[in-house]
Amino acid sequence: MFGFFKKNEFKKHITFDYSSIMVDMHSHVLPGIDDGAQTPEESIILIKKMMELGIKKIIATPHIMADYYKNTAETINAALAILKAELKKEEIDVEIEAAAEHYFDETFEDRVDAHKLMTMGDNYVLFEFSFINKPPNAIPVIQKLKQLGYKPILAHPERYTYMDVEQFRNIREWGANLQLNTVSLTGYYGKDVKKLAESLIDNQLIDFISSDMHHLRHAEAFKDALRMPYLEKLMFDYPLKNIMLR
Ligand SMILES: [Fe+2]
Repeated sequence: MFGFFKKNEFKKHITFDYSSIMVDMHSHVLPGIDDGAQTPEESIILIKKMMELGIKKIIATPHIMADYYKNTAETINAALAILKAELKKEEIDVEIEAAAEHYFDETFEDRVDAHKLMTMGDNYVLFEFSFINKPPNAIPVIQKLKQLGYKPILAHPERYTYMDVEQFRNIREWGANLQLNTVSLTGYYGKDVKKLAESLIDNQLIDFISSDMHHLRHAEAFKDALRMPYLEKLMFDYPLKNIMLR
């Protein structure tokens, strides 16, 4: 019966979604506290898009930065409460939690020392590097996180094109999990990022995938990513850890 469709047409008819990973663990859907959703209404639009694509649980991860977004557990939990009230009002049934995306700036190590980190699941800590250069103390801080019982996750390694696959392999061997933004596979951040994303997948270095949802353009790209052959590879051949955060 399938002979009726040409190969590509058939493929269109069997597109899959994100329901097998269940959990999106990196997003900026809390209202008004970083460069993601600015109002509860915007948050709801993004959350509905994620649910349409099969996501069952959302872990919101607002930026914590020394300069731009000086979020704390208090600001994050307050925004989470506002969003939860809005979800209830709109009768939207989705599980939502909050952690943070910690920026690896000069204050990050102090936060680690002070145990002032917003964690997800079994003590996972999401952090990001600068887009310009690798922090010189990356490995010692990752070691410290591990010693203190945290499980580090480096956000979107494919966006740090100043690093190569071997450096990521090294960072991972020191105990950092690597989280890919699936939108990178569509070319959303450009050719170099797409290429590095594909190399990381080919080298079996990816542990988590996520949307890094900030706005509607990300929602569209998150959907488009479902058509990328590399995403199929991730969803079917990979032992992704997203499910451990359910
Ligand atoms: Fe992010």
